[in-house]
Amino acid sequence: MPNFKMSHHDNITIPHHHARLVAEIRRHDELYYTQDAPEITDAEYDALRRELEALEQAHPELITANSPTQTVGAAPARGFKKVRHSAPMLSLGNLFTPEDVQDFVDRIRRFLNMTDDAPLTFLAEPKIDGLSCALRYERGHLVQAATRGDGEEGEDITANVMTIADLPKGLPPGVPDIVEIRGEIYMRKDDFATLNERQAAQGKQIFANPRNAAAGSVRQLDATITAQRPLHFFAYGMVGLSAYQTHDAMLSTLKSYGFALAQPQRLCASVQAMQEYYETVQTLRATLPYDIDGVVYKVNDLALQARLGFVSRAPRWAAAHKYPAEKAITAVTAIDIQVGRTGTLTPVARLAPVNVGGVIVSNVTLHNEDEIARKDVRVGDTVVVQRAGDVIPQVVEVLHDKRPPDARPYEFPDVCPVCGSQAVREEGEVARRCTGGLICPAQAVERLRHFVSRLAFDIEGMGEKIIQEFWDEGLVRSPADIFRLEEKNKNLLNPLQRREGWGEKSVANLFAAIAARRVISLDRFIYALGIRQVGEATAKRLAAHYGTWDAFKSSVASSDDLIAIEDIGPSVAGDIIAFFAEKHNQDVLADLESQLSIQPYERQSRSDHVLSGKTVVFTGTLEKMGRAEAKALAERLGAKVAGSVSAKTDYVVAGADSGSKLKKAQELGVRVLSEDAWLEIAKA
Ligand code: IVH
Repeated sequence: MPNFKMSHHDNITIPHHHARLVAEIRRHDELYYTQDAPEITDAEYDALRRELEALEQAHPELITANSPTQTVGAAPARGFKKVRHSAPMLSLGNLFTPEDVQDFVDRIRRFLNMTDDAPLTFLAEPKIDGLSCALRYERGHLVQAATRGDGEEGEDITANVMTIADLPKGLPPGVPDIVEIRGEIYMRKDDFATLNERQAAQGKQIFANPRNAAAGSVRQLDATITAQRPLHFFAYGMVGLSAYQTHDAMLSTLKSYGFALAQPQRLCASVQAMQEYYETVQTLRATLPYDIDGVVYKVNDLALQARLGFVSRAPRWAAAHKYPAEKAITAVTAIDIQVGRTGTLTPVARLAPVNVGGVIVSNVTLHNEDEIARKDVRVGDTVVVQRAGDVIPQVVEVLHDKRPPDARPYEFPDVCPVCGSQAVREEGEVARRCTGGLICPAQAVERLRHFVSRLAFDIEGMGEKIIQEFWDEGLVRSPADIFRLEEKNKNLLNPLQRREGWGEKSVANLFAAIAARRVISLDRFIYALGIRQVGEATAKRLAAHYGTWDAFKSSVASSDDLIAIEDIGPSVAGDIIAFFAEKHNQDVLADLESQLSIQPYERQSRSDHVLSGKTVVFTGTLEKMGRAEAKALAERLGAKVAGSVSAKTDYVVAGADSGSKLKKAQELGVRVLSEDAWLEIAKA
């Protein structure tokens, strides 16, 4: 008999029932695919899946991206080998309006210190709505294919990619020994429709859109399933491009290797030409055989691309110009308040589930008190919801003529709905915050969730639900508790192993995942602390600046020191200092330090350069490059760029009209360089 444990509990809620069904199916997937040790027959397994499907059909709001109905087969993430990318796989900044395009181009010109009329050409091409893939060829043979993953590390999908027919498995003679090509795997719209018909006829899962179908097909542990799926590949770039001068020349080479390129492509020499291209492609959009969600502009000159480099996760030399959002109409069934990691009260509208451009939306943020009042969203209202690309869904309009007569304006609470503490709004702030601090379970749980999230400690198997359950059961109340979990579990006679849907193996996997994170990089650690306004990019900057945890900790008390770091202003510095001043945080940190080994930051930049480890201050007007480029160049060479001159400064680069900083440098005897002298050292 199938293991219908959940059916015994007639009084449990539907979401609960759903969660248990999901856990049960996952456990059987794991037994079947990963351990090759199924406990039930295929027919029994199918019955479980049918029950889940029926439940989700009746309650579509329960469908999440990782429901087994949305991810065919085993939990794939576990089965694939990890691959570290030779160079990060980046994302693209988004542009929506003609003004955004103008700003993008202006920013590039400013960065490069170019005049408005100096020639600057962009290659424009469609942005394919698929999934990115990195292909590695050694001596002309395709040896490895990887997904993007978190940008640094992806999954090894070589066996699956080998089944894609229009992708060259070999390159012509004479290519370099190692070639890495990047592009997009996608499914054509007509193939997608046929696949869904076939799936439906066989009673199998229906995909929401071609992108999901392509992703689901690639992430099959069994490559013979991938082979039955009609996938295609467009190449858009190569890593390590020294052999070419322009992006379009590189693309021509890819074409000569046998790769397909997204069409149409155009070289645009002005913002107006870019806008025209965007509009042309928009008129073609419906007739293209594949889905696109915008167009991409890339600086065509590769030497300029190299100078522009990237900031955080996106290149400065490229951006995506997105097509307008997809919209849908639905009803607001409730307005709830969520309490975030820093105590912010966020109103969330619960919606009658609606399909917005291929994604089922059932919740949407209403941002804050002012927004909800400005839009005057009320329970019972009919609203227009939109989703723009990867942007989270939003309410864009309330249809007033559809408002029920008894709908009342929403009253924002002044107490925290979770802990009952006062929720206050400080002068000049948009957010109302719970003052409960750590007595507020919502804040504590959110902090823990952040702590284990992908860009922080990235502990596999510790999802949002599990954290809440561990909290409720008192197993994990502070970050350091995570690292004591194994011992605690043992002392309590293994309650984890007795959890519904768990077992020895899942518990062992979880402990292994936790143990692997006892050694953590400094940037991840700083990010994981969840300090207000300290996101991924800021955490990296801090880690790069201070190098070690000890250095960071001992100097964070000084605001001057923090503000001297690029992109850190007084407000961020204030939040960092406030975090470290709080007694409770000091205790949490001490506790964590006893459990962890925090690794010094590894610079991605060179360490062999004379400027490596040196502190440089720029002052005055530079002629050859913009201030931003000069800073970026110094950082790439391993130097720190500071905002003010002190005895610790190694070089002051003085452009025209240098003032007090130059004077200070001279007083302190710091070495002063002209712009030319600096460039000579930098280029050495
Ligand atoms: S260039 C340096 N070109 O969009 C960044 N990306 O939002 C390299 N994408 O992860 C990307 N079509 O998977 C580029 N013609 C195109 C693209 C494209 C789709 C995807 C790509 C990337 C994502 C960024």
